[in-house]
Amino acid sequence: MKNIVLLGFMGTGKSVVGRRLASELRYQFVDTDQMVEEKTNKKISEIFAQQGEAQFRAWEAEVVREVADRNRCVISTGGGIVLNAANLEALSRKGILVSLQARPEVILKRVQKRAGQRPLLQKPDPLSEIQRLLSEREPFYRRASFMIDTSDMRLEEVVRQIKEKVLTGEDQKNTGSTGNP
Ligand code: S3P
Repeated sequence: MKNIVLLGFMGTGKSVVGRRLASELRYQFVDTDQMVEEKTNKKISEIFAQQGEAQFRAWEAEVVREVADRNRCVISTGGGIVLNAANLEALSRKGILVSLQARPEVILKRVQKRAGQRPLLQKPDPLSEIQRLLSEREPFYRRASFMIDTSDMRLEEVVRQIKEKVLTGEDQKNTGSTGNP
């Protein structure tokens, strides 16, 4: 089976869902934000503050190149990874792309639990900023094979749906490639 790549905005549940999914599938869990932090020995908020977003995006792209060719991984990505076409290209080579979604109000509530960790949302009106960024990024998140709205769903249910959809997707592909009816 291919890697499973979780795309989606901040606060849609990529890391929590990814961890659980990986453990149920006995896959390795990889988190691109975490890898950037390990590589640079800095928190993401520090990278944004000291070196700026462009430098963060460069580190992010480097990490994507490293993980994209691995096998049996659940890869949780930073919300802005979709902004770079080369990232999506690399990640889809060996991975099925799944986008997690959530309503803006739900996103705000979730990210506020860890205030300060999302430099892009350090704005006077974070809800408007979430709406603005979401509308900008929506077309990119839609490139995924599946979209799942996690706003009102329990973790177990999100994981179950991803497994079901991914397995069905694989079946369709296998049927196509063997030429079976
Ligand atoms: C970002 C999302 C963050 C992190 C960085 C930028 C974004 O990751 O990569 O703060 O551009 O949406 P999460 O989506 O894991 O919060």
